[in-house]
Amino acid sequence: MKVIALNGSARGKKGVTWKLLDSLLKGLSEGGTTVREFQIKEMNISTCRACLTCMHKTPGQCAQRDDMDQIYPSLRESDLFVMGTPVYTDNMSAQMKTVTDRCICGMDPFLRLDPANRVRHSFSWAMPSKFLLVSTSGFPEMESFQPLIMTFRAQAANFGCESIGEICIPGSIALQMAPQLLEPRLDLIQRAGKMLALQGKIESTLLEEMNRPILTVEKYLEISAKYEAWAKKSREQAT
Ligand SMILES: Cc1cc2nc3c(=O)[nH]c(=O)nc-3n(C[C@H](O)[C@H](O)[C@H](O)COP(=O)(O)O)c2cc1C
Repeated sequence: MKVIALNGSARGKKGVTWKLLDSLLKGLSEGGTTVREFQIKEMNISTCRACLTCMHKTPGQCAQRDDMDQIYPSLRESDLFVMGTPVYTDNMSAQMKTVTDRCICGMDPFLRLDPANRVRHSFSWAMPSKFLLVSTSGFPEMESFQPLIMTFRAQAANFGCESIGEICIPGSIALQMAPQLLEPRLDLIQRAGKMLALQGKIESTLLEEMNRPILTVEKYLEISAKYEAWAKKSREQAT
C-alpha cells in the first residue's frame, strides 16, 4: 500500500495535528507501508482559479504551475490519502481546502450517476481509493468535528473514494498545556497505523477508543486556566 499524507496545519510540525499524523505515519511505516508526507504550510500552492482548462482543454492537468506539481504524482500513485487538518472555523484549514479544490483537475466534464445515485463527474485520473481523516480541535467537544467530518465524507464521495475513518482528538488547547495526557493516545494512533498497513483498515473498536475525548469539559477548563493566565500575561507584555 502506498500512502500520501498531507498536514494542513498552519503551524506545520509545531502543531498537534502533526503529532497525531506523525504517530499514524510511524505505525504505517512499521507495518511496511511507503509513506509520502507533505507539509502544505511550506509549499507554494495557489487557490483554484476555476478556469476549467483542466476539464475543457488539457484533461487531467491543472493550468497552474506551482507546488501542486509535487502532490499530483503522489496522489495518482497512492492507495490511501491521509488528510491531516485542524478544525478551523468549523471545517478543514484553508490550506487543506486549497489542495482539495485543486484536485478537481482529475474530474472530467462528463456527468454520471454515482453509486449513491447522485450526479457526479467521471474522472480522467483517480484519487487514492481510500480516504482517512486525522484532526484536532481547540474546543473539547466531539461536536466540534461534525461539519468537518461531513465535508470530508462528501469530498471522498465526490472523488469516487471510500472514507475508511476519522481520527479526531478534541481539546488541543488543554492538551498542549498537558502533553503527557496526549501520549497514550499517540501510542494508540501508532497502533492504528500499523493495523492499517497490515490489514488495510482500522477496526471500529480501535477507532472508537481513539475518538473518546481525553478530557472531561471540567478538566479541560481547569487545564486551560493555565493557558488563559499565560495569554493574559502575553497581552500585558505586548502593551
Ligand atoms: C483560524 C482558526 C480557527 C479555529 N477554529 C476552531 C473551531 O472552529 N473550533 C475549534 O474547536 N477549534 C478551532 N481552532 C483551534 C484549532 O483547531 C486548534 O488550535 C488546533 O490545535 C490547531 O491545530 P495545530 O495544533 O495543528 O496548529 C481554530 C484555530 C485557528 C487558528
